[in-house]
Amino acid sequence: MTDTAGVPGKGSAGHERREVDVVVSGARSYPVVIGSGVVAELASWLPEGTARVAVVTQSGIRVQVDPGVAFETYLIGHGEEHKCMSTVEDLCSRWSEDGLTRGDCVLAVGGGMVTDVAGFAASVYHRGIPVIHVATTLLAQIDAAIGGKTGVNLPQGKNLVGTFWQPSAVLCDTDTLDTLPPREWRCGLGELAKYHWLGGGRLDELPLVERIARCVGVKAGFVASDEREAGRRALLNYGHTLAHALEIAGGHELRHGEAVGLGLLFAAELARALGRIDAAAVAEHRRVVGGYGLPMRIPDGTDVGSLVPLMFRDKKAIGGLTFVLDGPGGCRGGSRRRSGGGRGDSGGCPMSSAVPMVLLLSGPNLNLSGQREPEIYGSATLDDLVEAATDEAAALGMEVQHLHSNHEGDLVDAIQAARAETAGIVINAGALSHYSWAIHDALAAFAGPVVELHLSNPGAREAFRHESVVTPVATAVIAGLGAAGYPLAMRAMAGLLAATF
Ligand SMILES: NC(=O)c1ccc[n+]([C@@H]2O[C@H](COP(=O)([O-])OP(=O)(O)OC[C@H]3O[C@@H](n4cnc5c(N)ncnc54)[C@H](O)[C@@H]3O)[C@@H](O)[C@H]2O)c1
Ligand SMILES: [Zn+2]
Repeated sequence: MTDTAGVPGKGSAGHERREVDVVVSGARSYPVVIGSGVVAELASWLPEGTARVAVVTQSGIRVQVDPGVAFETYLIGHGEEHKCMSTVEDLCSRWSEDGLTRGDCVLAVGGGMVTDVAGFAASVYHRGIPVIHVATTLLAQIDAAIGGKTGVNLPQGKNLVGTFWQPSAVLCDTDTLDTLPPREWRCGLGELAKYHWLGGGRLDELPLVERIARCVGVKAGFVASDEREAGRRALLNYGHTLAHALEIAGGHELRHGEAVGLGLLFAAELARALGRIDAAAVAEHRRVVGGYGLPMRIPDGTDVGSLVPLMFRDKKAIGGLTFVLDGPGGCRGGSRRRSGGGRGDSGGCPMSSAVPMVLLLSGPNLNLSGQREPEIYGSATLDDLVEAATDEAAALGMEVQHLHSNHEGDLVDAIQAARAETAGIVINAGALSHYSWAIHDALAAFAGPVVELHLSNPGAREAFRHESVVTPVATAVIAGLGAAGYPLAMRAMAGLLAATF
């Protein structure tokens, strides 16, 4: 590690040592030991009676380990293409040839790639043998090696196969980071940045050992409350919704940690647009991400229009598109906003009256809400949905005018008429969303913000619903949140009308 951006006090960290317990499944726990030289403690952390150790690592990771018992080293390849089932099969075959048993232990020495692959192989070999992680990248020390998630990629996508398999111990020796290439270091800082808003506080002011320990403590807290990622643990994805889309859109030129930094900036802007945080909190996101030497702008040439559909296909977007957002009372909500391009400057909203008027449009078949496929669209009737939106709008100082029509032309007429008096449009165009260029054109000629709304998550349904012709002219999209999307759309609209984009 030659680039020490964001590492105040690394030198002064001295021989500090921290131990954080990760509690899983109630009673069981394991230690994460952090400090300079802690890899020397390895032998004392092996499960009792361990006969032999299988060290899994990569070439170029020059971390010496001495488990104090016989050991064999197994090298795996570099890069995500080697994080695959055939690497796992190969490891298990070699372990089998060498007679590894459940009385032995796997030792993963490396970054997140090694801990994910070795952890996965250990979890399935002989139906599970113990594993210890010696995490040698910043990202692995603060995230990947903690929490028991393992996984490999399939040709169809990243981390699609995996297990929850908790290690017996994790050693985070900060000396190992000395050889980390600068970009790897910076990527770790991108992941670390999210912890500032997950309870970590001003991590950039702490010496390295303390900083890592704080992140491990935060992650351990999430893991303890939610070992299998059903709820709170998902907050660890702060900044990740846009990050994953950016990584794919850019053909992985942008590394994960760098993308997370940008995702944090985006989430902050979105939270501010929704009225959850103020300008000072957005500035704090910029200070932290910039201070860690991470990119502050999405790369030139990024196809911005592809980001929204990509975000919908994120595997974490189970019920819809969800963003973890900062705010005074914790994190909730899901919405997306088109950033840059497309609509051009929307500063000239015709917002003349004191009470802004919002046009809420409901397209084909929404009159059957509550009766039609309630397992997909929910049980609320159109009246319920409109009432929820209207009440929320009133609480936010806006008025709602609602129109439902099964006819494309009626919706186009209403959008055109809105050009005179209406501050913003919230539109659920139903199936017309997917092919009505007439609605697209009408909305493009409307100067105010447009929130596209869907009860279900079209991206997770039939292929014909994946593309929306409304999205390119929408300022924000809310989908997959069912009836809850309606009041949220009004909150988004209030934020969009208040903000200058
Ligand atoms: N399981 C989880 O909860 C979780 C969480 C986050 C990320 N991940 C996974 O972690 C992986 C990324 O991990 P990463 O960022 O650590 O990258 P990585 O493991 O691919 O390591 C990056 C490069 O740095 C090298 N390296 C590692 N330690 C080094 C050292 N001390 N000195 C010099 N070179 C060193 C590696 O050999 C590799 O070439 C991804 O596959 C991701 O999916 C898993
Ligand atoms: Zn991440």
